[in-house]
Amino acid sequence: MIKIRINTKPLPYCFLLFVSAFISTKSVAQLVVIPIETQHNALVLQTDTNKHLGTIYFGKKLSKSTEYTKVSAQFKQTPDYTGVLNSVYTPSGSRNLLEPAITVTHADGNNSLDLKYVKHELKNINSNVSLLSIFLKDPIYNFKVTLQYKIYFKEDVIEQWSAISHGEKGNVTLHKYASANLYLKGGNYYLTQYHGDWAKEMQPEESKLTHGIKTLDSKLGTRADLFQPPVFMVSLNKPATEDEGTVLFAGLAYSGNFRTDLEVDYQDNLRIISGINNYASPYTLKPNEEFTTPVFLYTLSTQGKGAASRNLHNWARDYKLLDGNGSRLTLLNNWEATYFDFNENKLARLLKDTKKLGVELFLLDDGWFANKYPRNGDVAGLGDWQENKKKLPNGISSLLKEARQNQVKFGIWIEPEMVNPKSELYEKHPDWVVKQPNRPEHYFRNQLVLDLTNPKVQDFVYGVVDDLFTKNPELAYIKWDCNAVIYNAHSATLKNQDHFYIEYVRGLYKVLEKIRAKYPKVPMMLCSGGGGRVDYAALQYFTEFWPSDNTDAMERIFMQWEYSYFYPSIATANHVTDWGKQPIKFRTDVAMMGKLGFDIVVSELAEKDLKFCQEAIKNYDDVKSTIWAGNQYRLSDPRTANVASMLYVNEDKTTGVIFNYLVNNRYGANSSSPILLKGLDPSKNYRIHEINLYPGTNSTIKADQVYSGDFLSTVGFNPDVNSGRTSVILKIEQAK
Ligand code: DGJ
Repeated sequence: MIKIRINTKPLPYCFLLFVSAFISTKSVAQLVVIPIETQHNALVLQTDTNKHLGTIYFGKKLSKSTEYTKVSAQFKQTPDYTGVLNSVYTPSGSRNLLEPAITVTHADGNNSLDLKYVKHELKNINSNVSLLSIFLKDPIYNFKVTLQYKIYFKEDVIEQWSAISHGEKGNVTLHKYASANLYLKGGNYYLTQYHGDWAKEMQPEESKLTHGIKTLDSKLGTRADLFQPPVFMVSLNKPATEDEGTVLFAGLAYSGNFRTDLEVDYQDNLRIISGINNYASPYTLKPNEEFTTPVFLYTLSTQGKGAASRNLHNWARDYKLLDGNGSRLTLLNNWEATYFDFNENKLARLLKDTKKLGVELFLLDDGWFANKYPRNGDVAGLGDWQENKKKLPNGISSLLKEARQNQVKFGIWIEPEMVNPKSELYEKHPDWVVKQPNRPEHYFRNQLVLDLTNPKVQDFVYGVVDDLFTKNPELAYIKWDCNAVIYNAHSATLKNQDHFYIEYVRGLYKVLEKIRAKYPKVPMMLCSGGGGRVDYAALQYFTEFWPSDNTDAMERIFMQWEYSYFYPSIATANHVTDWGKQPIKFRTDVAMMGKLGFDIVVSELAEKDLKFCQEAIKNYDDVKSTIWAGNQYRLSDPRTANVASMLYVNEDKTTGVIFNYLVNNRYGANSSSPILLKGLDPSKNYRIHEINLYPGTNSTIKADQVYSGDFLSTVGFNPDVNSGRTSVILKIEQAK
């Protein structure tokens, strides 16, 4: 067998596509090899002699791209009885025997599908981003799938999705329609997945994958990731650590039901198939209609979890998160200070407190609306978005005036996708509500979900936001809440109920698109009765997300730690509240590791506590750009050490901030050994001093000492955390 490379085209960032002609004594066939290379990795696809496209390599980039075709021969595994075990998009009903990526019933009732390579095209979007389209087609049916790979070279991130269409003589039913179908060779695979509930979001679990299928999924409809977030990690061979090991970080960018199957096959390879959850959702695809799946995004790191998370942070800030490199407003929220019990006078006092505290915006939470069924609790009023005349006789506009006089901005809470049965909206439009005809209603937080599959409801939801801004152009911030899941999934107007879950999410995105077309920059927080909704599709419309209603600072250290693997700190809204037993300094320090806010009764703060908060906000102003835009390094893990330590370093390596916390209350628990710093320049010299000191306390850190970056990353630095100093923030600056 002789292999001749007949065409090698160097493209920007070494993105190589070549076709190898392979001449054997028996047959002559052209094998197409498609290496998708990013800065450090390669995902290499190759056709077989039957034009089935499979993955032949996914790992660290080789220096000679011609060698990828030699990889498979190095594996002596049992036979592939199907010939498509490594398929880039496994069709079902023909030769496949394992979990498919796509399952269909053709117009003629036949259930088989075969997908063969037709061609591929590469478009360079800019010097860092390119889009690869691979066209696949069934040799018998006029049925096509285009696999799309958006490649972010510098960040080692790939966004993958597929577009499905056909030209058959009638409708085709899609029973499964994944976004991506990855194939990895690793020997052993360790999955880190997350689970949760209200106030217990983002709880990690790591386990070794065994043969068969492990499914991560959601069927909640809205706030889909409350019980199970769509993000996960898979370490190859052995569990990756912060700085070592090969690990894939991935997740579906989708705000509805998702499903990810991780299948260790009989040859010991790992197949990952992810997409919209096909649960209760067979999709009827008309001829020439294109079904586009959501994006499955992933990044591979051969240098542990830290590098993978920084890849995602950089990618998110530059390409995904709304205003990812912009600024964020510090705020005072009134939710926990008043709950539903407030009026104009009380709010006027809170607006003064906002100014006194030193934050930039006052955020009015739930309870400001509805008259016939006033929103004085969570049992009524949701859906009636008119100011409550008793609480706010002069409307929002007078609050805005008051805010202006206090030189602070004003933001407002809405939950526009939802309705209380006790509301005028429900009385007027019972057919706008998601519920089954002839079955009793079932409530989540006493409320129901509005039917966003209905264009009239989409207009209504858009109108809630548009009216607020039209009447109050000075409005500077929206907190968009979403507290209920979908029970009794059914629309009064949708023709095909099987499309309900999919059309709900499409409806939501249509509304958000329209809002962003008119109000491109207004900051909006993605909230969901805690953290049940964050994903990278939603974050295209939001500047930040609410990780959890649980703001106990000790809990938050752990929760924020896990979120930080996937989402940058600038997107993580953290509020100082009265949850938990930690002193105000500890609570504020923890909330500063992201986008800082407060939800406390400022007037009840002890004098020193208030002074501390005021100073902390000034300190935050000084370090926030490093926290938001810098590189994040996890130094000491709260799950395995007495002290949690997290470092943010700016791009130039001239300044950094380290947050350190005692997470073990046992006798003698302290930072007994120095903590190794990361991300600094070994040849630069640095000074370290403590910030956010509580009034009347002195630091034990010697601020005049100079350390080389080499010393700090080889010997380390001791933040001197102990039971008397449970929370320590250190600022690092280059010594000139
Ligand atoms: C749930 C949110 O997570 C809270 O912050 C608050 O806005 C309430 N909803 C209001 O009902």
